[in-house]
Amino acid sequence: MSSVVELSVVVPTFNEQPNVQALVARLEQCLRGVRWEVIFVDDDSPDGTAAAVRTLAQADARVRLVHRIHRRGLSSACIEGMLASTAPFVAVMDADLQHDERLLPQMLSTLRAEDLEIVVGSRHVEGGSIGDWGSERELASRFATRLSGLVLKADLKDPMSGFFLLRRALIDEVVHDLSAIGFKILLDIFVTAGRPLRFRELPYEFRLRHAGDSKLDNVVAWQYIAMLLDKSVGRYVPVRFIAFASIGGLGVFVHMAVLWLVFRGLEETFIVGQTVATLVAMTFNFFLNNWFTYRDRRLRGWGLLRGWVSFTLACSLGAVANVGIATYLFNVSPTGGPWWVLSATAGIIVGAVWNYAVTSVYTWNQ
Ligand code: GDD
Ligand code: MN
Repeated sequence: MSSVVELSVVVPTFNEQPNVQALVARLEQCLRGVRWEVIFVDDDSPDGTAAAVRTLAQADARVRLVHRIHRRGLSSACIEGMLASTAPFVAVMDADLQHDERLLPQMLSTLRAEDLEIVVGSRHVEGGSIGDWGSERELASRFATRLSGLVLKADLKDPMSGFFLLRRALIDEVVHDLSAIGFKILLDIFVTAGRPLRFRELPYEFRLRHAGDSKLDNVVAWQYIAMLLDKSVGRYVPVRFIAFASIGGLGVFVHMAVLWLVFRGLEETFIVGQTVATLVAMTFNFFLNNWFTYRDRRLRGWGLLRGWVSFTLACSLGAVANVGIATYLFNVSPTGGPWWVLSATAGIIVGAVWNYAVTSVYTWNQ
């Protein structure tokens, strides 16, 4: 029998050190008769998950590790894991033992027998269940599923599932166009394909997390909205720009509040108020963008200081361009009418695009 791998199980991890050994033991149990490997994709977890995987890999060649530095994100981790595999079949599952690994052999045999492109582990078909979820999480999940209808055409009962098995050909077909934002890689695959896929959902019961904490937080919820935007208007405007520009809009409010405080409240001169307000608003924008818009490349430690300096410099130039262009347009436009608003808007747009383009390269470079 050849020893070539037929099934790669891709497992994204962030702080799952206490779970990886148990998962490998369970895969070993249930995948007898399949030539499998498991590829952990770890985002440099502070709890030492990568080192734990390396130790396991030294004892079992079927265990592999992709160790990513300065990167975050469940979807992008899954994609890199799939790309690190050369097997004809790839499964994706969580490390925390919430997905029932005993379903894997059936997923593989169903995919083959029915000549499907993808098989999804589903909590929302007959026989499946979400297990012991709090009502709040259940409601949120139901709402998210409902929202997915905006971009998803297939009648998929559990598009939020992170447990599925697919063929190499499908990965190759979609991989260049995936949004890769946030948590919902399965939805991403279905929507990106943009054509009906041959799929089946197989039921399983969602278990409770084994050890550690869930990484699903408010930012992940916002990233879900970002992904939906990317899948709808993303063809025309990058979502990162939408996030960046919205945060810029919030910055205007911060600016006005600080100006009011310093100029009116503290009775400083206008130029002092305007300078302080500009610095505070820029700093506010920098941190918010670092926390949200560039969560996947977030700057930390000294990188924050360097980032803040380059962000402030870039935005100062952006402001000069903004004022220059707006003034020029205003000067060449006819008198009267709405030209002052249009000139200002043009300046703002040019400034925003400049700030976005320059900071994406120099502040959050990649
Ligand atoms: N590499 C990497 N990077 N892995 C991550 C990251 C990250 O930024 N964030 C989370 N993970 C890993 C976790 O370590 C875990 O193995 C898996 O992704 C799922 O993360 P959880 O934090 O356990 O998320 P959950 O249980 O709330 O969500 C899961 O259930 C959903 C069903 O409602 C995920 O599987 C979702 O994909 C699934 O849709
Ligand atoms: Mn989980």
